[in-house]
Amino acid sequence: MATYETMAFHLETERLFLRPWAESDADEFRALLDERGKETFTVERARAGIVSLLAGTETTGFALLPIQRREEGDFIGYCGLIVGRASVDEPELAYELFRHAHGKGYATEAARAVLDAAVATGRKRLWSTVGAWNTPSLRVLEKLGFERDRVSVEEGAGEVVWLTRSLP
Ligand SMILES: CC(C)(COP(=O)(O)OP(=O)(O)OC[C@H]1O[C@@H](n2cnc3c(N)ncnc32)[C@H](O)[C@@H]1OP(=O)(O)O)[C@@H](O)C(=O)NCCC(=O)NCCS
Repeated sequence: MATYETMAFHLETERLFLRPWAESDADEFRALLDERGKETFTVERARAGIVSLLAGTETTGFALLPIQRREEGDFIGYCGLIVGRASVDEPELAYELFRHAHGKGYATEAARAVLDAAVATGRKRLWSTVGAWNTPSLRVLEKLGFERDRVSVEEGAGEVVWLTRSLP
């Protein structure tokens, strides 16, 4: 079995910090999940979500990290690695930002830092799975050098595009 370095949990880009979750993120995290518009989240559920993300990191050594704008100091979303539909050896890149922060290049900027962090763990390949309708996310992945591998069809999610990028 391959062994990997633990991912760095503090990343810095020109405009952003990525850092570990704090209990105080629960309210903003709830608001972010609420913006999906599918269901209403309580702050308790958001807090439980954070606890479960932290527990996942204990076993995988990688994480989804809150994104904070350096100048404004505010939480605008998260970006990082998850097992998702893939694996611990070849995890998925994932991100989600508040709508008010879309269209400014933040997802691409954060994800580039996560790619570098993934390289530093010793991993050789990443995946991402995206709804075929999700043009902005597909564009982010294209900018990062991901290539389409296949499309699967899932009950609920519909057409899911699988993209992959070899590292470094
Ligand atoms: C996907 C998401 C993270 C992108 O964040 P972002 O910070 O706006 O992304 P960026 O600004 O780095 O890049 C977005 C790109 O998509 C392009 N884009 C956005 N909307 C578009 C549209 N409707 N049609 C075509 N291109 C579009 C932008 O122009 C930009 O490309 P460019 O740099 O070539 O101009 C954000 O839309 C989001 O949080 N969505 C909801 C959650 C989600 O879908 N997460 C991904 C699940 S796989």
